[in-house]
Amino acid sequence: MLGAAAASAQSREGRGAATERRGAPGFPRDFIWGTATSAYQIEGAVNQDGRGPSIWDGFTHRQGTIEDGSNGDVADDHYHRYQDDIGLMQALGTKAYRFSIAWPRIFPEGAGTPNGKGLDFYNRLVDQLLAHGIEPYATLYHWDLPQALQDRFGGWQSRDTAAAFADYAGYVAEHLSDRVKHFFTINECSRLVHLGHGLGIDAPGLKLSQGAQNQVRHHVALGHGLAVQAIRARAPRPVKVGPAENLVVCIPAIATPENVRAAEIATRELNAGYLTVMLEGSYTQAYLTEAGGDAPQFTPDDLRIISSPIDFLGLNIYKPDHYVVAADNPRGFALAPFPASFPHMDPSWLMVGPEAMYWAPRHAARLWNVKSIYVTENGTSGTDAPDADGKIYDVDRIMYLRNYLSQLQRATAEGIPVAGYFLWSLLDNFEWADGLRKRFGLYRVDFDTQHRTPKLSASFYRETIKRNAVA
Ligand code: GCO
Repeated sequence: MLGAAAASAQSREGRGAATERRGAPGFPRDFIWGTATSAYQIEGAVNQDGRGPSIWDGFTHRQGTIEDGSNGDVADDHYHRYQDDIGLMQALGTKAYRFSIAWPRIFPEGAGTPNGKGLDFYNRLVDQLLAHGIEPYATLYHWDLPQALQDRFGGWQSRDTAAAFADYAGYVAEHLSDRVKHFFTINECSRLVHLGHGLGIDAPGLKLSQGAQNQVRHHVALGHGLAVQAIRARAPRPVKVGPAENLVVCIPAIATPENVRAAEIATRELNAGYLTVMLEGSYTQAYLTEAGGDAPQFTPDDLRIISSPIDFLGLNIYKPDHYVVAADNPRGFALAPFPASFPHMDPSWLMVGPEAMYWAPRHAARLWNVKSIYVTENGTSGTDAPDADGKIYDVDRIMYLRNYLSQLQRATAEGIPVAGYFLWSLLDNFEWADGLRKRFGLYRVDFDTQHRTPKLSASFYRETIKRNAVA
């Protein structure tokens, strides 16, 4: 007869075993699992089949812009290897794929005569995805602006580029929406404006005044709205459309009601130039007051266009941007400073804060009554060096993904409407100013041989998808 203590231990062990058999709590039954990439980062073939130059082609060939001197001329050669890469997606068990369409392949001059061969690549890609049971999710702009528009209009400094983007978006919707049902308009307005037009470390490499940056930001938001309208007007069948934004993630330092409210207020204010104006139809008073004379020039009609109704919100979620506390000040919140000891992953900017995956969709849903959210990017780079046995034990990436996905599952369990998750990225690829050395892929790419090798995280992701729960 077991003593009471032993019996209790056995009972706990029994419960533990049962929990182990049950595994982690699951995601919604229809949850969508995918991977994400972008055209300039993976396609290569930059001079093939009529593609025109983009601002990234010129920028990467400028001395000193890219950490390792690399560029996207070849990248993952996905333009030629897309069929094999679709096989890699299938091997993961993913049912969706978020890719971007290169504007300069469709309109080499940014506007005017379309390039049939450019469109044909995406026809082939989409047909192959569908043939393999993978749903295509297309991003229309992932930063590769046709150089001709930069030369002619100054790129996003001009409203004319916003109008040209809408024409391009409408054209693509006209020709692909019989098979592509989900379109993201613009990827990360905030980064293309701040890094491309403020800090100058992304293409087109401009360092504009704050006022000029704010006007660029307005034109990009206007481009989003005009594209939403063009897609709906020209798609012969109903499609769903929304932005893919890296929300400034504001986390309550301690989850008291006061701090949660403060984090919501901070979310509205710190995303005022994009998501807030897209979802509320106006710039916040604090944004306009703080900008003062640097505030963008805009019309009421602009705001109406920018806030054209969307079907879903894409959120690129990597890290906590701020930990927030309630404060007795005009803003109603204060931002806790990040100590130097705060942990980060391989990239120094990628602070580890899994709760970002819970609070970002929660704020979006609570603040803006968003009915459908996709996590359009999440992941991390790693050293990813093959071990003596040739395998890649990226247990750092697995740790990161496990913890972030656990927080995402917490959000879905509370009814926050997250419909799917696109892991960044399927393949190691060209990581912008960091070049080819920052490896974000589930598959390691040998850029000399183009050989793809699955990392241990590919098995982790496959098991998670199979269980529809964190493995
Ligand atoms: C971004 C871009 C991606 C990056 C990825 C890793 O979010 O900056 O959408 O193109 O490659 O996020 O930094």
